[in-house]
Amino acid sequence: MKILVVGGGGREHAIIRKLKQSKKATAIYCAPGNGGISKDAVCVPIKATDITSMVEFAVKEKIDFAVITPDDPLVLGMADEFRKNGIPCFGPGKAAARIEGSKVFSKNLMKKYGIPTADYAVFSDPEEALRYIEKGSFPAVIKADGLALGKGVIIAQNLDEAKAAIASIMVDKIFGASGNNIVVEEFLTGPEVSALSFCDGKCVKPMISSMDHKRALDGDKGLNTGGMGVIAPNPYFTEEVQKECMEKIFLPTVNAMQAEGCPFTGCLYFGLMITPKGPKVIEYNCRFGDPETQAILPLLDSDLLEIMISTTNGTLADTEIKWRSEACACVIAASGGYPGKYQTGFRINGLDDNGQIDGAEIFHAGTKFDSGNFLTSGGRVLGVCCTAPDLRSALNSSYAKLSGISFENMHFRKDIGASALKVIK
Ligand code: AMP
Ligand code: GLY
Repeated sequence: MKILVVGGGGREHAIIRKLKQSKKATAIYCAPGNGGISKDAVCVPIKATDITSMVEFAVKEKIDFAVITPDDPLVLGMADEFRKNGIPCFGPGKAAARIEGSKVFSKNLMKKYGIPTADYAVFSDPEEALRYIEKGSFPAVIKADGLALGKGVIIAQNLDEAKAAIASIMVDKIFGASGNNIVVEEFLTGPEVSALSFCDGKCVKPMISSMDHKRALDGDKGLNTGGMGVIAPNPYFTEEVQKECMEKIFLPTVNAMQAEGCPFTGCLYFGLMITPKGPKVIEYNCRFGDPETQAILPLLDSDLLEIMISTTNGTLADTEIKWRSEACACVIAASGGYPGKYQTGFRINGLDDNGQIDGAEIFHAGTKFDSGNFLTSGGRVLGVCCTAPDLRSALNSSYAKLSGISFENMHFRKDIGASALKVIK
């Protein structure tokens, strides 16, 4: 089968390296891809959001199966266009992608179907939103309705911060139309779990759980990033918690989407908080997480392509999905300054000709390959991932491998998995 993967980050690299292991995959294309991905797939210079060119390419190349991973093409309806052209694909259509694309949609869905989440109110008028916040307590959680490059959630500690957040989202429109409506939410506390799952519209099968580290600096300090490292499994996601989530969150969500006429197929990502009152949904994503995927897929012991196909033809319930009972640690090497301003174009030292290192999986996020060298080309540059029988060994290996890699201004967190190790102890 000829496969096309849409996207070009570490997540896509992890998916491609797993798909390559499938006997069914005869050729893998990636659009647009990156330097590291070019060693594992044929990269095609089409922007991930360019639906017309993407579908044209897929039809011309006789692609048998497409995998759409980033949020924006999914929310824009790329999967529907592939299907209209007779190409099956992994990922939800536009209607089901609203579960991530509109917080108003997802909050209303949870309310209607009794799925545990933070209390909330929706506003289209900034003054009204402020009056509501004034009467409530702090911190207040303010969320732009639509996609906002992962920056649409502001936790305001006082009224001044809330005013500034509302002004920038609703008046200055820093996220464009995504800020036409906002959700103001109750502040929840507790450890967070990224619970990704495969869905075929009616059946849901959770993957290994994971824990992201979103802040830029050690000790969860600094700005929010796309994710600086992940460990899997997440020790807070015990069997008991998983059972409760299946009953109260996972199945009810999949059933709700079916009842609303937009059954979800693809990867449904439940961003959970394990609060003192039980697990609650913080957010849904309609796609694989980045960098969660980089720590989860190395633990998959089944054929990813077969699983993905089963989500598109409704046979997920009959598809066996095996996971290794090991741990995986992914540490991100980023450009100094990220998520603020940073420089690119630096030579990356320590990788072999394929952009890999023996004993680890190196998933490239922001790299390009130029005249025999890998160069930095983005904020998050590489994910260094090792699996081992236990989390401590996996972390030790990932950090040991990372110490062999260098580029100018390289930055990484030194405490990935540290809080999880305390729970395991
Ligand atoms: P999101 O972009 O929805 O993943 O939100 C980013 C981060 O904001 C989450 O990972 C949480 O740490 C935090 N967050 C979102 N909603 C809430 C909430 N209701 N209470 C506390 N923290 C929250
Ligand atoms: N790592 C968080 C996300 O993919 O949304």
